[in-house]
Amino acid sequence: PSVAVIVVAAGSGLRLGAGGPKAFVGIDRHSMLRHALRGVFEGPVAQVIVVAPADRVGDARTDAVEAAGAHRDLVTVVGGGQTRQDSVRAGLSAVWPDVEIVLVHDAARALTPASVFERVVGAVRSGRDAVVPVLPVVDTIKRVDADAVTAAVDRSALAAAQTPQGFRRDVLDTGYEIAREEYTDDAALVQAAGFSVFTVAGDDRAFKITTPADLERARLLASPVAP
Ligand code: CTP
Ligand code: MG
Repeated sequence: PSVAVIVVAAGSGLRLGAGGPKAFVGIDRHSMLRHALRGVFEGPVAQVIVVAPADRVGDARTDAVEAAGAHRDLVTVVGGGQTRQDSVRAGLSAVWPDVEIVLVHDAARALTPASVFERVVGAVRSGRDAVVPVLPVVDTIKRVDADAVTAAVDRSALAAAQTPQGFRRDVLDTGYEIAREEYTDDAALVQAAGFSVFTVAGDDRAFKITTPADLERARLLASPVAP
């Protein structure tokens, strides 16, 4: 395929505090990773690279093969790194030679619908170097200094970034070659390398499961994975 999706699932999930790596925590009888991969496999046909904690590569493969169904040949599983950026780098090294577009997705955004993958790939195909799904900021935002409010921030100039973020393959490779520090996301890393980043519409269901309250929300929203 000309597209690869790197699903990063190698974090430890400290803020969730579930006592093990977050991607393997159950939403229902299926793990976060298994749910995330449903959205991936319902999207554009792609090589799917799962980046898992080194000691959970086998579990990740089980979830991935199950989610892939007839597409199991498209699955690659690799071990992750210390930081998210290290894990993406590990995933990038497994991208097949013919791939031209690479998406990077958080397993923790387990309920992301396939339509977001379609929009992101569509925008890269139509010529964007780098594409981020975003939602408008709904809260009123203040700039603060300790307990003092120093300014109101114009929320119309802000957006909340989600994943999957999509890139021309050479753009993401170059970004990762140049990067010498940690960036907040792949879009920031690529922007620091001098590329322009554009947005497409995100989706409420692409929220990141970070805290126990997020997991509770996911449990209410999840529709069961088909048997
Ligand atoms: N991730 C990863 N490798 C790391 C750190 C994070 O693959 N070394 C992945 C996580 O598995 C997750 C995504 O990056 O899918 C977003 O990270 P985050 O929500 O911060 O997950 P964790 O780092 O696992 O959680 P926490 O920060 O609470 O420990
Ligand atoms: Mg983290």
